[in-house]
Amino acid sequence: MSAIESVLQERRIFPPSAKASAGAAISGMDAYKALTSEAERDYEGFWARLARETLSWHKPFETVLDESNPPFYKWFEDGEINASYNCIDRHVEAGNGAKNAIIFEADDGTVVNVTYQDLLQRVCRFANALKKRGVKKGDRVVIYMPMSIEGVVAMQACARIGATHSVVFGGFSSKSLNERLVDVGAVALITADEQMRGGKALPLKSIADEAIAAGGCEAVKSVIVYKRTGGKTQWHEGRDLWMHELVEHEAAQGADSCEPEWVSAEHPLFILYTSGSTGKPKGVQHSTGGFLLWAAQTMKWTFDAKPDDVFWCTADIGWITGHSYIAYGPTAIGATQVVFEGVPTYPHAGRFWDMIAKHKVTIFYTAPTAIRSLIKAAEADAKIHPKSFDLSSLRILGTVGEPINPEAWMWYHENVGGGVCPIVDTWWQTETGGHMITPLPGATPLVPGSCTLPLPGIMAAVVDETGQDVPNGQGGILVIKRPWPSALRTVWGDPGRYKKSYFPEELGGALYLAGDGAVRDKETGYFTIMGRIDDVLNVSGHRLGTMEIESALVSNPIVAEAAVVGRPDDTTGEAVVAFVVLKRSRPEGEEGKRIANELRAWVAKEIGPIAKPKDIRFGDNLPKTRSGKIMRRLLRSLAKGEAITQDVSTLENPAILDQLGEVR
Ligand code: WTA
Repeated sequence: MSAIESVLQERRIFPPSAKASAGAAISGMDAYKALTSEAERDYEGFWARLARETLSWHKPFETVLDESNPPFYKWFEDGEINASYNCIDRHVEAGNGAKNAIIFEADDGTVVNVTYQDLLQRVCRFANALKKRGVKKGDRVVIYMPMSIEGVVAMQACARIGATHSVVFGGFSSKSLNERLVDVGAVALITADEQMRGGKALPLKSIADEAIAAGGCEAVKSVIVYKRTGGKTQWHEGRDLWMHELVEHEAAQGADSCEPEWVSAEHPLFILYTSGSTGKPKGVQHSTGGFLLWAAQTMKWTFDAKPDDVFWCTADIGWITGHSYIAYGPTAIGATQVVFEGVPTYPHAGRFWDMIAKHKVTIFYTAPTAIRSLIKAAEADAKIHPKSFDLSSLRILGTVGEPINPEAWMWYHENVGGGVCPIVDTWWQTETGGHMITPLPGATPLVPGSCTLPLPGIMAAVVDETGQDVPNGQGGILVIKRPWPSALRTVWGDPGRYKKSYFPEELGGALYLAGDGAVRDKETGYFTIMGRIDDVLNVSGHRLGTMEIESALVSNPIVAEAAVVGRPDDTTGEAVVAFVVLKRSRPEGEEGKRIANELRAWVAKEIGPIAKPKDIRFGDNLPKTRSGKIMRRLLRSLAKGEAITQDVSTLENPAILDQLGEVR
């Protein structure tokens, strides 16, 4: 039975415990319904109330939603705000400066605590240093850093001076980094000498040097380097600067404060690149006010975060989850959070459970892939089983990034949550800025594998190809019917692509197209996400475009043609399978293995190791129709190892199917 079928047949229901409901921000379904009907009755009034209550405004907004130029919506535009002020200063001003903002745990287990007062000083000093290097409001700064206090400081410092950051995940290649630096027009790059992961030092600065040398980024005037390991790096005088030296210089001058740059709520806080079904990754542009509102509000609603909580989101700041639920959400509400440099399997696969016990984590948020891989390790070794650790501090668990299968959900619930912690299975996207469809821990009866119901104010629906609602129980296309504050504002530099990708004419031009398929339960109306309906793969919760991997493969001089599809995988959710035609004859045996490995390394170099195909299959050709179209449906079946049941009468070359069934 596929994971989706098992969710659809899931009948177990876990109502919220009295303990989870008591004192929760949304304490039951009545409270939830009161909020959803408030939003239905007075949509703008609802959002305006939240924005006033949740954020601190330098100048209050008067207009709420501006829909005069759809689908380019604006929220709170005449309001002035600063994200860094909201995330740091206001907590210090309220007397919480001595509270821990960050409990940082390094790869080797070293712990560093950063209070809100410390964070303010670090951010101000670094913001002043950036200003001295000529970085100003509206400039773009690329951040290519490891999970670190300095990474969060870099993001907050950009926000403080009104510079728009674009974080690039530290696992991306120099080529991917170069493309992003060029596309965003960066004036500065903040990186580290190296990053530590699982006891190993991996390069960053040398990759950054290569990325800049590849050309097109002449606008990059400063490369600021956080010294993580002290490993050897090449130095470009005049361009390269040590982060600690810049900060020490500001400290010596007593430059410990930096007036926040007050910006319009619509000012771009960041641009984050993500994969789409066509072409190069898209620069998803987020606003300041709307984004921050939802990052903060969902901390309160979805995670029910309270002042005494210790929150831990295991994502990387290179992804949206690390933006909304590390850099901005937890700080916006003045929470204490754990920030972790390393990997879940080092020095052993019980690292997460050990850290939860050590830091008394109360809210834990991770990806289903991590859970699935840790299940295998835990079941094989009692010492690293969650039951061998004191996890009694935990109150709420969450998952993000991909569907969670009911088996993994049950294991997480019983072994990590001790059978009592609600699990919030949060559906959202880089483009949505924050959670969209998710259970509420004190209100929603849980069904394993379902992300349940939309948050108040989020008008999610399932429609057919013409944009008409489909009845519950029938699968369709997931859309959001009304604009919401934390939605992406545009695709950086390509408004046409924004309109075409997210508000397609086929659906009437007004519905936000998420790119996922979904079905709602007949009785409860609960949503189950059925995976992407476009050519985007989700491998370990990371988004990859099949087109990107195909172009990486065909850029190799020995490759004539390539087609990439996904195959369900027990651990990573989906795995990348590539069908490749070489310019020379089809390789067999050991030679085939060698070339497959070469091509994997090539993809890692072109995009990053996360995009490496798991299987590569060589053929003399690809299955094509007589008009030359690659039949991807057939490739998907072949990738899964399924017997071909589809009609192949339109196929130009049916014999090719046998050849491509073979695994390398
Ligand atoms: C998938 C990550 C099922 C979905 C925050 C979406 C999920 C894509 C869930 C966005 C979930 C995310 N259940 N699928 N709870 N959460 N997805 O932009 O396909 O990296 O479109 O954002 O991940 O991935 P992105």
